[in-house]
Amino acid sequence: MRNKVTKAIFPVAGLGTRFLPATKSVPKEIMTLVDRPLVQYAIDEARAAGIKEFIFVTSRGKGALEDYFDHSPQLEQELRKKGKDDLLETLKNTNMDSGEIAYIRQHKALGLGHAVWCARRLIGNEPFAVMLPDDVIAAEKPCLQQMVEAYAETGGNMVAAMEVPADKAQNYGVLDMAEDMGAMVSVKGMVEKPAAGTAPSNLAVIGRYILSPNVLRNLSKIKSGAGGEIQLTDAIAQEIGSDGSGVYGYRFRGQRFDCGSKAGFLQATVAFGLARDDLRDDLETYLQELMTARKAAE
Ligand code: G1P
Repeated sequence: MRNKVTKAIFPVAGLGTRFLPATKSVPKEIMTLVDRPLVQYAIDEARAAGIKEFIFVTSRGKGALEDYFDHSPQLEQELRKKGKDDLLETLKNTNMDSGEIAYIRQHKALGLGHAVWCARRLIGNEPFAVMLPDDVIAAEKPCLQQMVEAYAETGGNMVAAMEVPADKAQNYGVLDMAEDMGAMVSVKGMVEKPAAGTAPSNLAVIGRYILSPNVLRNLSKIKSGAGGEIQLTDAIAQEIGSDGSGVYGYRFRGQRFDCGSKAGFLQATVAFGLARDDLRDDLETYLQELMTARKAAE
């Protein structure tokens, strides 16, 4: 019987420079899509996949992130007094039980692989998930849950994968496919941020992973890779077996938004707004009026 995946690492130590000046005082992960911070989308997805322990790898200036998951007795009392049960219910999803969440500092910005490695002692000898909250995935069945179900069949290591335009492959970890089985692909190589025109395919790694503890051992020894950083991709690639087993890409069903970029963040805002019953009509009307006005002005 395969070990269940119950722990997830959330690397959130990045400076978020692409969102300056906002990120001067607000951690990027606290920026909101409609009314929920990015990190809440990741937590909800993790919970749906059966994750019970949440490990955040943080850095200086991320205090707001820790406060976000605390109970807020004064606020809760006020809401109770006013009979705002719906808001109390909303707040419940933001709370963590004591011991369910852990924060560990990445003391130096040495890359994603290093950030994940910082959590090694909290993982031990079990498979674990990694979720990058910048990648927000709208899906009927949450992406990590799809992966946990697929992983129950394959074991090994699994990365979320998605086809990207060929000229964008250089921004991602890219898979070299051994066998394409539809949703699942077996992998014979992985390259982090390949130079333009050298990518082995246009199947890119998206920020959801289920990894074996071997990857943490690999990270202990690995040298810096693309961009001079310690890359998670390189440590996963070391798990590729000679028979093409060991690492799988999983083409998830859903729409991924790159909320690490301004354009992606805006698109996600519109998409999540349109998905909300309380906002859809007004937003749709506004967008239609806007498009009509823009066409008329052309
Ligand atoms: C990271 C990973 C990369 C992956 C990407 C997905 O890169 O290193 O392999 O394709 O996330 O969003 P980053 O976007 O942090 O540079």
